[in-house]
Amino acid sequence: MYTLPNLPYAYEALEPHIDAETMKIHHDKHHQAYLDKLNAALESQVELASLPVEDLLWQFEEHQAKLPAEVATALRNHGGGYANHNLFWEIMSPEGPRQAVGELTKALDATFGSFADFQAKFVDVATKHFGSGWAWLAIDQTGKLAVYSTSNQDSPLMQQHRPLLGVDVWEHAYYLKYQNRRPDYLAAIWQVLDWQKIEERYLQAVGK
Ligand SMILES: [Fe+2]
Repeated sequence: MYTLPNLPYAYEALEPHIDAETMKIHHDKHHQAYLDKLNAALESQVELASLPVEDLLWQFEEHQAKLPAEVATALRNHGGGYANHNLFWEIMSPEGPRQAVGELTKALDATFGSFADFQAKFVDVATKHFGSGWAWLAIDQTGKLAVYSTSNQDSPLMQQHRPLLGVDVWEHAYYLKYQNRRPDYLAAIWQVLDWQKIEERYLQAVGK
């Protein structure tokens, strides 16, 4: 059985950029629902359910080939939703540096030119993503930083990429406060990302 991690801060901690009501519904209802459906789908898959969900997604294709279709779909959608939200809460905070720090700064500069150039690309990808999904900064299979989006709850782990930063662009992430104005939400998100946490994920991913 997987469990719902507590938010590492209060619902209102990310105000005014992300409102308390959105955080409460997002964590207590949406994240809980992904978790419940993942647990239900894996109820008869005791061995799989004993593994970290990130491992299941990393080897999704192999699992998909062996699992009943509806279980594989549930793993993709609800396992992805569970893992993506775990990451999302972790890389935000009411404090923390609002720009890259340490080793990741150098890597972002080398890949995108500057932090501002990275931000512009990320916002562009996130804004243009059609429908529900996520925008990502991830390390690809060759060890390079990459910015892209995925649909629904697909995780970079499914293509053996290591996600460093994920921003939820489902309407449930911003509609109460920003309604249809996704660009306003994407302008505000930089005020709540914790680049110390993202740096820690980067160092872990590159083995430093
Ligand atoms: Fe979400």
